[in-house]
Amino acid sequence: LLPIVRTVPDLRARVSRWRARKERVALVPTMGALHEGHLSLMREGQALCERVVATIFVNPKQFNRAEDLQSYPSDNERDIKLLTELGVDLLYMPEVREIYPPGFQTVVSLPALSSCLCGAHRPGHFDGVSTVVSKLLLQSLPDIAIFGEKDFQQLQIIRRMVRDLNIPVSIKGGATIREADGLALSSRNRLLNPEERARAVSLYRVLSSTVAAIEAGDLLSPALERAREELSEAHVTSVDYLEIREEQSLELFDAERSQGPARIFAAIWLGSTRIIDNLPVKLP
Ligand code: PAJ
Repeated sequence: LLPIVRTVPDLRARVSRWRARKERVALVPTMGALHEGHLSLMREGQALCERVVATIFVNPKQFNRAEDLQSYPSDNERDIKLLTELGVDLLYMPEVREIYPPGFQTVVSLPALSSCLCGAHRPGHFDGVSTVVSKLLLQSLPDIAIFGEKDFQQLQIIRRMVRDLNIPVSIKGGATIREADGLALSSRNRLLNPEERARAVSLYRVLSSTVAAIEAGDLLSPALERAREELSEAHVTSVDYLEIREEQSLELFDAERSQGPARIFAAIWLGSTRIIDNLPVKLP
């Protein structure tokens, strides 16, 4: 059976018992409504450590729109069943007041990495993410914590935060898990109606064809312009961003100046649901 704890002392008691026995602990934070993407991170934790702790906490501070928090999917019973079947060792499922007790006021903020891409369109979102993730890491003090490349900006923000604050945890990235047609798995996909779901595949299709064109020698800005046209022909509702940036700094990739790995990032709307994706781009 999967033990569930709801308080910091109970979480710490379990984790310190394992660490006293020299068992390594992996933490996989989630907001629930689990899918194969989340489960792949749990399996990666099992491959790297003797113990895996999953967390489910729908963090109100990272929702910049009240409707988005209200409509965020949740299915605790199913999540618990999936984690039990997988053999996860512990589920930490705190109440909001355990994480944010009355009087809570600290904000962990990484202004530069949080200002572009999703940060530019979701004010306050990444302050909510970095604040809650710093708390989850300090509450559990695992050996490693695993985050998906699906949310690449989030992963880079967490890596920078852990270095900046000397949090003694090693951060690992997990590959993006996709549906057969390429759509990246996301808890929000279940909010798409069948017609929106059919249009959603254009995000992955356009990103991959743009990567292929650039890697075959096309220039960045005309390739991005064509990608926007293709998204509009595919009847996506709107495009929040479609950009190529440096992986490390998340600064816009400049063919003259930039060095090191690059990635193409996009966020689009399908009706009232927003989906994001990103892919690496090999540039000379
Ligand atoms: P959530 O969206 O539930 O995602 C939890 C973890 O699963 C994140 O690290 C995310 O990048 C990863 N993930 C989501 N979809 C994935 C996919 N298709 N393939 C691989 N990994 C995937 O991200 C959050 O929650 C929150 O911001 C959180 C970090 C828990 C802080 O509240």
